[in-house]
Amino acid sequence: MQNIVLFGPPGAGKGTQAENIIKKYQLVHLSTGDMLRNEMKNQTELGLKAKTLIDQGLLVPDEVVIGMIKNQINQNLQAKGFIFDGFPRTVAQAEALDKMLAELNLSIHSMVALEVPFNTLKQRLLQRAKELNRTDDTEEIIEKRIQEYNSKTLPVADHYKKQNKFYSIDGVGTVQEVFERIERVLQA
Ligand code: AP5
Ligand code: MG
Repeated sequence: MQNIVLFGPPGAGKGTQAENIIKKYQLVHLSTGDMLRNEMKNQTELGLKAKTLIDQGLLVPDEVVIGMIKNQINQNLQAKGFIFDGFPRTVAQAEALDKMLAELNLSIHSMVALEVPFNTLKQRLLQRAKELNRTDDTEEIIEKRIQEYNSKTLPVADHYKKQNKFYSIDGVGTVQEVFERIERVLQA
């Protein structure tokens, strides 16, 4: 089983590249952002609570996303592997993930980090705002999301660096160019 964490700031291309990776390697895509947006769409209690945080660009509580990931892993134990997108986003989430995988005799194979400069992230997300209907793709909330990333999520990279599982990738270029860089890491 090959379990990959796709890492990077908002707009880095995690969702875009996850689609390419699952097609080629038949992994199960686990995006906590997509799961939360689905709860919001269905107006569940969890979705309504999450919406107030997401619309401020703030992270939702660790226990909420850890619970959702645990459920999805348990429902897909026959999978060839998982691609984690937007999770783990805090060191506590990373520790919980390592623990739940270890209990199943599994582990993270690698963290692939997409590096993209701030101005490009902002341009991509403002462009996406015109195409999709994500309520958090406004200039003000994008900046807040990037602040949350810098303060709470960047330390997750160190967590996997200590385990020698961290691979940095240049996330600027065409979608295909970036995918080829990721493939080189996954095939190594
Ligand atoms: P989440 O949905 O995870 O959003 P995010 O991390 O802010 O990232 P995005 O989905 O905006 O960007 P992406 O890296 O997937 O880029 P994409 O491929 O779409 O989280 C949303 C919110 O949910 C959080 O703020 C938080 O509140 C909550 N949440 C989620 N997970 C959580 C967790 N674990 N803990 C706590 N809270 C959590 O690409 C962006 C755009 O760029 C697209 O339009 C795309 O077409 C374009 N693009 C992609 N690649 C390229 C390229 N190479 N060249 C040009 N354009 C490109
Ligand atoms: Mg995404």
